[in-house]
Amino acid sequence: MSENRSMRHCLNDYPSDRVLIAPSVLACDWAQFGEEVQAVTAAGAEVLHLDVMDGHFVPNISFGMDVVKSVRTLSDQVFDVHLMIDNPRKYLKRFALAGADHITFHVEVWDDADELIDQIHALGCTAGLSLRPATPIDAVVPFLPKLDMLLVMTVEPGFGGQSFHGEQLSRILKLRQLIDQTGKAVRLEVDGGIAEDTAQLVRSCGADVLVAGSSVFRDKGKYRQAIDRLR
Ligand code: DX5
Ligand code: ZN
Repeated sequence: MSENRSMRHCLNDYPSDRVLIAPSVLACDWAQFGEEVQAVTAAGAEVLHLDVMDGHFVPNISFGMDVVKSVRTLSDQVFDVHLMIDNPRKYLKRFALAGADHITFHVEVWDDADELIDQIHALGCTAGLSLRPATPIDAVVPFLPKLDMLLVMTVEPGFGGQSFHGEQLSRILKLRQLIDQTGKAVRLEVDGGIAEDTAQLVRSCGADVLVAGSSVFRDKGKYRQAIDRLR
Protein backbone atom coordinates (compact mmCIF):
# COMPACT_ATOMS: atom_id res chain seq x y z
CA MET A 1 0.00 0.00 0.00
CA SER A 2 2.81 2.44 0.69
CA GLU A 3 5.36 3.29 -1.98
CA ASN A 4 8.19 1.20 -0.55
CA ARG A 5 6.10 -1.91 0.02
CA SER A 6 8.60 -4.09 -1.80
CA MET A 7 11.20 -3.27 0.88
CA ARG A 8 8.93 -4.41 3.69
CA HIS A 9 8.56 -7.82 5.22
CA CYS A 10 5.33 -9.69 5.71
CA LEU A 11 4.58 -12.64 7.98
CA ASN A 12 4.79 -15.09 5.12
CA ASP A 13 8.41 -14.14 4.41
CA TYR A 14 9.46 -16.22 7.40
CA PRO A 15 9.48 -20.02 7.51
CA SER A 16 6.65 -21.33 9.64
CA ASP A 17 9.04 -23.05 12.06
CA ARG A 18 10.78 -19.79 12.97
CA VAL A 19 9.68 -18.09 16.19
CA LEU A 20 9.17 -14.37 15.60
CA ILE A 21 9.72 -11.67 18.22
CA ALA A 22 7.37 -8.69 18.23
CA PRO A 23 8.34 -5.82 20.55
CA SER A 24 5.32 -3.76 21.59
CA VAL A 25 6.06 -0.06 21.24
CA LEU A 26 3.63 0.68 24.05
CA ALA A 27 6.59 0.30 26.40
CA CYS A 28 9.05 2.42 24.42
CA ASP A 29 10.37 5.89 25.22
CA TRP A 30 7.83 7.99 23.35
CA ALA A 31 10.02 11.07 23.38
CA GLN A 32 12.37 9.08 21.12
CA PHE A 33 9.81 7.09 19.16
CA GLY A 34 11.61 6.99 15.80
CA GLU A 35 14.92 6.04 17.39
CA GLU A 36 13.23 3.31 19.43
CA VAL A 37 11.71 1.76 16.30
CA GLN A 38 15.09 1.82 14.58
CA ALA A 39 16.77 0.33 17.65
CA VAL A 40 14.45 -2.71 17.91
CA THR A 41 14.72 -3.21 14.16
CA ALA A 42 18.51 -3.22 14.40
CA ALA A 43 18.29 -5.54 17.41
CA GLY A 44 16.82 -8.27 15.23
CA ALA A 45 13.09 -8.27 15.98
CA GLU A 46 11.19 -9.44 12.90
CA VAL A 47 7.88 -7.83 13.87
CA LEU A 48 6.85 -4.48 15.36
CA HIS A 49 3.69 -4.77 17.46
CA LEU A 50 1.59 -1.59 17.40
CA ASP A 51 -1.16 -1.42 20.03
CA VAL A 52 -4.03 0.83 19.01
CA MET A 53 -6.48 1.64 21.85
CA ASP A 54 -9.58 3.79 21.62
CA GLY A 55 -10.60 4.35 25.27
CA HIS A 56 -13.83 2.40 24.63
CA PHE A 57 -12.97 -1.19 23.78
CA VAL A 58 -10.25 -0.86 26.41
CA PRO A 59 -9.99 1.85 29.08
CA ASN A 60 -6.73 3.24 27.71
CA ILE A 61 -5.93 5.47 24.71
CA SER A 62 -2.71 4.98 22.76
CA PHE A 63 -2.19 6.18 19.18
CA GLY A 64 -3.62 5.96 15.69
CA MET A 65 -2.68 5.61 12.05
CA ASP A 66 -0.63 8.80 11.78
CA VAL A 67 1.84 7.41 14.28
CA VAL A 68 2.10 4.17 12.30
CA LYS A 69 2.72 6.15 9.13
CA SER A 70 5.37 8.35 10.76
CA VAL A 71 7.74 5.43 11.38
CA ARG A 72 6.97 3.32 8.32
CA THR A 73 10.02 4.50 6.44
CA LEU A 74 12.30 3.78 9.40
CA SER A 75 11.82 0.02 9.49
CA ASP A 76 11.26 -2.92 7.16
CA GLN A 77 9.80 -5.04 9.98
CA VAL A 78 6.38 -6.62 9.73
CA PHE A 79 4.08 -3.90 11.11
CA ASP A 80 1.61 -5.85 13.25
CA VAL A 81 -1.28 -3.56 14.15
CA HIS A 82 -3.32 -4.79 17.13
CA LEU A 83 -6.63 -2.97 17.05
CA MET A 84 -8.20 -2.74 20.51
CA ILE A 85 -11.01 -0.58 19.21
CA ASP A 86 -14.80 -0.85 19.01
CA ASN A 87 -15.24 -0.29 15.31
CA PRO A 88 -12.30 -1.81 13.42
CA ARG A 89 -14.28 -1.94 10.16
CA LYS A 90 -14.18 1.85 9.96
CA TYR A 91 -10.39 2.06 10.17
CA LEU A 92 -8.95 -0.97 8.34
CA LYS A 93 -8.22 0.89 5.14
CA ARG A 94 -6.58 3.80 6.90
CA PHE A 95 -4.23 1.52 8.84
CA ALA A 96 -3.36 -0.37 5.67
CA LEU A 97 -2.60 2.90 3.90
CA ALA A 98 -0.50 4.04 6.86
CA GLY A 99 1.73 0.99 6.42
CA ALA A 100 0.27 -1.95 8.34
CA ASP A 101 1.39 -5.33 7.01
CA HIS A 102 -0.77 -7.29 9.41
CA ILE A 103 -4.01 -6.20 11.11
CA THR A 104 -5.58 -7.96 14.09
CA PHE A 105 -9.02 -7.09 15.44
CA HIS A 106 -10.87 -8.54 18.44
CA VAL A 107 -13.60 -11.13 18.13
CA GLU A 108 -15.42 -9.34 20.98
CA VAL A 109 -16.38 -6.43 18.74
CA TRP A 110 -19.01 -8.92 17.48
CA ASP A 111 -18.90 -7.66 13.92
CA ASP A 112 -18.92 -10.04 10.94
CA ALA A 113 -15.42 -11.47 11.43
CA ASP A 114 -15.53 -13.38 8.15
CA GLU A 115 -16.13 -10.19 6.24
CA LEU A 116 -13.51 -8.18 8.13
CA ILE A 117 -10.88 -10.84 7.44
CA ASP A 118 -11.76 -10.63 3.73
CA GLN A 119 -11.48 -6.85 3.84
CA ILE A 120 -8.03 -7.01 5.46
CA HIS A 121 -6.85 -9.45 2.79
CA ALA A 122 -8.27 -7.26 0.03
CA LEU A 123 -6.19 -4.38 1.43
CA GLY A 124 -3.04 -6.46 0.91
CA CYS A 125 -2.45 -7.27 4.58
CA THR A 126 -2.40 -10.51 6.52
CA ALA A 127 -5.30 -10.90 8.93
CA GLY A 128 -5.47 -11.70 12.62
CA LEU A 129 -8.15 -12.26 15.21
CA SER A 130 -7.69 -11.87 18.96
CA LEU A 131 -9.55 -12.92 22.06
CA ARG A 132 -9.54 -11.65 25.62
CA PRO A 133 -8.50 -14.04 28.41
CA ALA A 134 -12.12 -14.77 29.40
CA THR A 135 -13.61 -15.18 25.92
CA PRO A 136 -14.47 -18.82 25.11
CA ILE A 137 -12.19 -20.21 22.43
CA ASP A 138 -15.25 -21.40 20.50
CA ALA A 139 -15.68 -17.77 19.43
CA VAL A 140 -12.58 -17.89 17.22
CA VAL A 141 -12.53 -21.51 16.09
CA PRO A 142 -14.78 -21.06 13.02
CA PHE A 143 -12.38 -18.46 11.60
CA LEU A 144 -9.09 -20.31 12.06
CA PRO A 145 -8.85 -21.61 8.46
CA LYS A 146 -9.07 -18.06 7.08
CA LEU A 147 -6.61 -16.45 9.46
CA ASP A 148 -2.91 -15.79 9.06
CA MET A 149 -2.48 -15.35 12.80
CA LEU A 150 -4.47 -15.87 15.98
CA LEU A 151 -3.59 -13.58 18.89
CA VAL A 152 -4.18 -14.98 22.38
CA MET A 153 -4.18 -12.31 25.09
CA THR A 154 -2.30 -13.47 28.16
CA VAL A 155 -3.32 -10.34 30.09
CA GLU A 156 -6.48 -8.25 29.99
CA PRO A 157 -5.93 -5.91 27.00
CA GLY A 158 -5.41 -2.23 27.70
CA PHE A 159 -2.11 -1.81 29.49
CA GLY A 160 1.48 -2.94 29.28
CA GLY A 161 3.46 -4.21 32.23
CA GLN A 162 0.88 -6.66 33.63
CA SER A 163 1.55 -10.15 34.95
CA PHE A 164 1.13 -13.14 32.67
CA HIS A 165 -2.08 -15.16 33.22
CA GLY A 166 -0.88 -18.75 33.66
CA GLU A 167 -4.31 -20.23 33.06
CA GLN A 168 -4.01 -19.18 29.41
CA LEU A 169 -1.43 -21.91 28.76
CA SER A 170 -4.03 -24.64 28.38
CA ARG A 171 -5.95 -22.46 25.92
CA ILE A 172 -2.81 -21.81 23.88
CA LEU A 173 -2.16 -25.54 23.74
CA LYS A 174 -5.76 -26.28 22.72
CA LEU A 175 -5.77 -23.57 20.07
CA ARG A 176 -2.48 -24.85 18.63
CA GLN A 177 -4.08 -28.29 18.29
CA LEU A 178 -7.13 -26.81 16.60
CA ILE A 179 -4.94 -24.77 14.24
CA ASP A 180 -2.91 -27.83 13.32
CA GLN A 181 -6.12 -29.71 12.56
CA THR A 182 -6.98 -27.10 9.92
CA GLY A 183 -3.81 -28.02 8.01
CA LYS A 184 -3.11 -24.31 7.47
CA ALA A 185 0.03 -22.45 8.53
CA VAL A 186 -1.68 -20.11 10.98
CA ARG A 187 0.65 -18.28 13.33
CA LEU A 188 -0.18 -18.31 17.05
CA GLU A 189 0.78 -15.06 18.75
CA VAL A 190 0.72 -14.35 22.47
CA ASP A 191 0.57 -10.92 24.06
CA GLY A 192 0.97 -9.83 27.67
CA GLY A 193 3.56 -10.48 30.36
CA ILE A 194 6.02 -12.21 28.03
CA ALA A 195 9.56 -12.33 29.41
CA GLU A 196 12.31 -14.96 29.37
CA ASP A 197 10.46 -17.43 31.64
CA THR A 198 6.97 -17.07 30.20
CA ALA A 199 8.36 -17.14 26.65
CA GLN A 200 9.54 -20.70 27.26
CA LEU A 201 6.15 -21.71 28.63
CA VAL A 202 4.12 -20.33 25.74
CA ARG A 203 6.53 -21.75 23.18
CA SER A 204 6.16 -25.19 24.71
CA CYS A 205 2.39 -24.82 24.18
CA GLY A 206 2.81 -23.93 20.50
CA ALA A 207 3.02 -20.14 20.37
CA ASP A 208 5.32 -18.91 17.59
CA VAL A 209 5.00 -15.11 17.67
CA LEU A 210 5.89 -13.50 20.98
CA VAL A 211 4.82 -9.95 21.77
CA ALA A 212 6.91 -8.31 24.45
CA GLY A 213 6.74 -4.72 25.65
CA SER A 214 8.27 -4.16 29.07
CA SER A 215 10.75 -7.03 28.87
CA VAL A 216 12.29 -5.65 25.65
CA PHE A 217 12.23 -1.91 26.30
CA ARG A 218 13.20 -2.09 29.99
CA ASP A 219 16.93 -1.61 29.38
CA LYS A 220 17.89 0.97 26.77
CA GLY A 221 20.83 -0.10 24.68
CA LYS A 222 20.24 -3.77 25.52
CA TYR A 223 17.42 -4.61 23.15
CA ARG A 224 19.34 -7.28 21.30
CA GLN A 225 20.10 -9.16 24.50
CA ALA A 226 16.46 -8.89 25.59
CA ILE A 227 15.23 -10.20 22.21
CA ASP A 228 17.78 -13.03 22.16
CA ARG A 229 16.66 -14.12 25.64
CA LEU A 230 13.12 -14.55 24.34
CA ARG A 231 14.18 -16.86 21.52
C1 DX5 B 1 -1.80 -4.90 26.09
C2 DX5 B 1 -1.08 -4.87 24.78
C3 DX5 B 1 0.26 -5.47 24.80
C4 DX5 B 1 1.24 -4.83 25.76
C5 DX5 B 1 2.19 -5.89 26.21
O1 DX5 B 1 -3.11 -4.55 25.90
O2 DX5 B 1 -1.83 -5.54 23.78
O3 DX5 B 1 0.81 -5.56 23.50
O4 DX5 B 1 1.96 -3.78 25.22
O5 DX5 B 1 3.02 -5.35 27.17
P1 DX5 B 1 3.88 -6.24 28.16
O6 DX5 B 1 4.81 -7.06 27.34
O7 DX5 B 1 4.56 -5.22 28.98
O8 DX5 B 1 2.91 -7.09 28.94
ZN1 ZN C 1 -0.95 -5.98 21.78
